[in-house]
Amino acid sequence: MSTIMQPWYYDEFQQTGLDYSDALNVETYDKQMQRFRDYKKEAETIMKFLDLTPKAHVLEIGTGTGHFAIEAAGVYKMVTAFDTSKGMLEYAKQKAKQYARTNIKWINKGFLSLDDTKKYDAVVTNMALHHLPDFWKAVAFNNIYRSLKQKGKLYLGDVIFSFDPSCYREKIEVWMKDITELLGGKKMKKEAVMHISEEYSTYDWVIEKLLHISGFRYKIIHKDNFKAVYLAVKD
Ligand SMILES: C[S@@+](CC[C@H](N)C(=O)[O-])C[C@H]1O[C@@H](n2cnc3c(N)ncnc32)[C@H](O)[C@@H]1O
Repeated sequence: MSTIMQPWYYDEFQQTGLDYSDALNVETYDKQMQRFRDYKKEAETIMKFLDLTPKAHVLEIGTGTGHFAIEAAGVYKMVTAFDTSKGMLEYAKQKAKQYARTNIKWINKGFLSLDDTKKYDAVVTNMALHHLPDFWKAVAFNNIYRSLKQKGKLYLGDVIFSFDPSCYREKIEVWMKDITELLGGKKMKKEAVMHISEEYSTYDWVIEKLLHISGFRYKIIHKDNFKAVYLAVKD
């Protein structure tokens, strides 16, 4: 029996947090994100850090509404985009049609169903790893490492904590307040509550140790109390 079929293997297709199988939730998520994120600029920044040639094959894991994959497909030869939500993938596919992108493979898989049958020049994952508990984040890094070419790169951005654990209550309350005031009211607050209570964001020192023991050399691109971005290289 393959490992991913074992009864103890984590079911990464189960729903954690917001229900992305609901088409309305997906559309609302996309609209909401665009109120405070500039997708095009974000993708350009990621690609600048990756510094790949146009011949590159890039894998995005947890593509969501596909905005990075769509921008990347305009620059690289091939993009593969994974997501465990069929609803997200369907939305992303329709969006890609508007941009006439034909070099994106949309695949209903995730961090834990990634195997090393294909080798990528880079893996990008943004705001998705927190869907896995820490033990399974280690499995995810191991899978990513094995699926990269030598010197291949991992761009990782997520909600990752770097505050002192003893101040967690005060820090989280300030975060909730900021999100509600700055980013769009009650709905955003509901999602932030869900993020903390149901999802698996963790500390920077957990992520950094896991990157290290998986064999990656990494640098920190950004870090604040609630967000971190890393560029890691397979050595
Ligand atoms: C918060 S959204 C982020 C989407 C996109 N990367 C962005 O930056 O807007 C998280 C995405 O990760 C997907 N996801 C959850 N668990 C996953 C897993 N184990 N493997 C791959 N994708 C996963 C969800 O379906 C969702 O589309």
